[in-house]
Amino acid sequence: MFTFPRSIAAAVVAASLASLAAQAGAAAPLPQLVQKDGRHALMVDGAPFTILGVQAHNSSNSVAALKQVWPAVMDVHANTLEIPVAWEQVEPVEGKFDFSYVDALVKQARQHKVRLVLLWFGAWKNTTPQYMPGWAKFDNQRFPRMVDKAGKPIYCMSPFGEETLKADRKAFVAFMTHLRKLDEDHRTVIMVQVENEMGTYSQARDYGAKAEAAFRQAVPPAVLARKKSPVPGAASGTWSEVYGPYADEYFHAWSFARYVEELAKAGRAVYNLPMYVNNNLRDPLAPIVPWKNENFVPGGPTYDVIDIYKAAAPHIDIAAPDIYQPESAKVAADLDLFQRPDNALMVPEMGNSANYARYLYQILGRGSLGVAPFGIDYFDYSNFPLGAKGTDKAMAEPFGNIMAVFRPMERLWAKWAFEGRTHGVAESDERTPQTIALKNWKATVSFREWQFGEKTWFPDLKDTPAGTETPNGGVAIAQTGDNTFIIVGQYARIKLDGDGVNAGKPSLWDRVEEGHFDGAGKWVMERLWNGDQVDYGLNFKGKPLVLKVTIATY
Ligand code: DGJ
Repeated sequence: MFTFPRSIAAAVVAASLASLAAQAGAAAPLPQLVQKDGRHALMVDGAPFTILGVQAHNSSNSVAALKQVWPAVMDVHANTLEIPVAWEQVEPVEGKFDFSYVDALVKQARQHKVRLVLLWFGAWKNTTPQYMPGWAKFDNQRFPRMVDKAGKPIYCMSPFGEETLKADRKAFVAFMTHLRKLDEDHRTVIMVQVENEMGTYSQARDYGAKAEAAFRQAVPPAVLARKKSPVPGAASGTWSEVYGPYADEYFHAWSFARYVEELAKAGRAVYNLPMYVNNNLRDPLAPIVPWKNENFVPGGPTYDVIDIYKAAAPHIDIAAPDIYQPESAKVAADLDLFQRPDNALMVPEMGNSANYARYLYQILGRGSLGVAPFGIDYFDYSNFPLGAKGTDKAMAEPFGNIMAVFRPMERLWAKWAFEGRTHGVAESDERTPQTIALKNWKATVSFREWQFGEKTWFPDLKDTPAGTETPNGGVAIAQTGDNTFIIVGQYARIKLDGDGVNAGKPSLWDRVEEGHFDGAGKWVMERLWNGDQVDYGLNFKGKPLVLKVTIATY
């Protein structure tokens, strides 16, 4: 019989006990990020947790609107809802806070047994001040806007606005203080995003008087220590001296980073939840060139300035990619660029059209702390062409099918990921086979295969399996022991061959069980695969399945 390593069973038990303690009203441990050997885990109730999330629409942050959110959360089998808390809604009148929405949201999340990641929409939401309260967003004197090279104010708030920072931070601290009171005995809220996709569309930085003065100062030593110039520059000096043509955009990133640091530091001082910032991605495959003609959005935590954020915003745990570039090569490059020993991978937003669903395998397989497609919410508003056209069950289904199989093993998967046992691939746009290096084994994953035989046996066969018209295959694999694996997949064939000490040795499937994990993390077998079901590799059709596999050499 398959048994889990003791540490995994212990983690599952720890999480269950902590949940029971929370239900009984005793404080569960604070959610936190931990790091070991360059890998990361999000600890929730004292054990690693995988965010199988969805993000609601921007305007679903009201009590009545939640009615259309929960059914989608349930249909996707998500364990976490990401949803905004806007400055304008909690402080509609300066100094008068109203957290009734937060109270209802947290209560309803508990009723649905779902965790929350709350998104603080403050001075910047996709670069604009749209979510600032009315009393703040039109007061150019007190809350100054950025200034262009000609000296004219533009749409975006200046990150050097002292009153902006003071007021945004005050509201954020009030929010975190309220959260602590509301949730410290439950930990329904497990993370907070600070601002949303910061940066500026139309120019490389702020040219206002305060910004100019700061730009002429020496680059802070913490930034110098981490961020090298892509062109020859001075070892120290002003931003221009050190970073040459990149000075404007690096300075801009630093300006936002130091601002969010102030919010995060003050917020965590009252309630120390993990915090992250999200990013409107630049093209990960395009060469790095200085900002020009809106070739990317400068100021936010794009991959090339993660070091600046790390230096200037130590209270922010993660710079996270919002994935809306659906090309498989770009997704792979984005994941590579944001997953670093000093930056845990977490994908807080991703397109919600069906072509993105396959990336769940790749993202979870890589050991991401979590992933959340955006706009999984039955509010009848579609963000096509960025995402799905529909806002109905058909939109939810491709993600729900996959999350449903991961959900019962959300704790196990997180633990395996933290131990470096998990891997994943998504079918590429080229649809070619991919290999996965495992310990003493190599997996080959191919796509558009029939379930029987080899393609080479039927050279004249033109027919292709239904459902594979566009790339939507994926496989995630956890190596749970030397020769044991948990494999999850759809529209894919996987074969294992010996590698390392097993290289060149013939092998056979010892046992292939189809089944699922129950709520306590115990494996439940439903069918034993053998014969036709294993002779041509392990073949997955459209419905995601979980296989528990043992293989051996002879
Ligand atoms: C990225 C933003 O972060 C989201 O809030 C949303 O506006 C999407 N883009 C587009 O739907």
